[in-house]
Amino acid sequence: MADAQESWSEEDSALYRQLASIAVPDREEQIATLLVLLPFGRDERFHVVELGSGQGLLAEALLRAYPNATLTALDGSPSMLEETRQHVEEFGERARVAAFDLASPDWLGELDGADVVWASLSIHHLDGPGKQALFREAATRTGERSVFLVADVVEPPNAVAASLFADVYDQIAERQSHAQTGGREAYQAFLDEEWNCYRSPDPVDIPSPLSDQLTWLREAGYAVAGSFWQHAGHAIYGGYQSLDAEQAGARLSFAEALSFAHAVTAALDAPPPEPQE
Ligand SMILES: C[S@@+](CC[C@H](N)C(=O)[O-])C[C@H]1O[C@@H](n2cnc3c(N)ncnc32)[C@H](O)[C@@H]1O
Repeated sequence: MADAQESWSEEDSALYRQLASIAVPDREEQIATLLVLLPFGRDERFHVVELGSGQGLLAEALLRAYPNATLTALDGSPSMLEETRQHVEEFGERARVAAFDLASPDWLGELDGADVVWASLSIHHLDGPGKQALFREAATRTGERSVFLVADVVEPPNAVAASLFADVYDQIAERQSHAQTGGREAYQAFLDEEWNCYRSPDPVDIPSPLSDQLTWLREAGYAVAGSFWQHAGHAIYGGYQSLDAEQAGARLSFAEALSFAHAVTAALDAPPPEPQE
């Protein structure tokens, strides 16, 4: 597969852990949206492969919300792998955590027979041809009912949108800083670290236009490709192999999904317990 041109470092992992709760727009809503977009009923058995599982929040929310789902969580950062492991260890054999290099083809066998491939804020580290190759591999290797879901930054279609994305992203980070920390300090760190990729592009980030990615998903073989959520250049989009994505049995409601998403993010943000005397 094509390049992830600059590589993600352990410093990036540490900074992401510090900033994510204010720097990811509407994080709980994004997790809930991904959970609800799965074309499976609450009690169905299906297998998910997560690309770049990071802190393991989406992984844990999935395993709580869908009690018969299994997961392979992949990441390239040792500290992120450890954090994902902590979040999924209570689910025993339902979850496997493994190292991978997104830009290498060595791990693609992990996709064989999967029902879901999803990736949150990771595949923008691949260039356009790399994303295209990934969508093709996933479509070929996964099942007839399978889905590829992405939550990620996308390239603005023009300068007007680029400026809007940059301004709205700053505003969201500032609002989330006040809401979650009671002050502006976390937002100041977001500014100091130049985390707003629409204001301060970084060679590690290679977002592609949303419209191109939907075309690549269709060309790869996904019968339905669409965008389901967007805010400040962050989008949730994906492809379904089957035209009618019908679930067997009860569906997860958005309200239920939000409560699972809230539980995992709130636990992450909670202060550590006081040491016992
Ligand atoms: C911005 S974080 C997102 C983490 C998590 N998915 C989330 O949404 O919170 C990007 C993740 O992708 C992983 N990553 C970035 N480039 C990678 C690569 N080339 N191979 C494997 N993992 C990579 C990082 O280690 C990190 O955990």
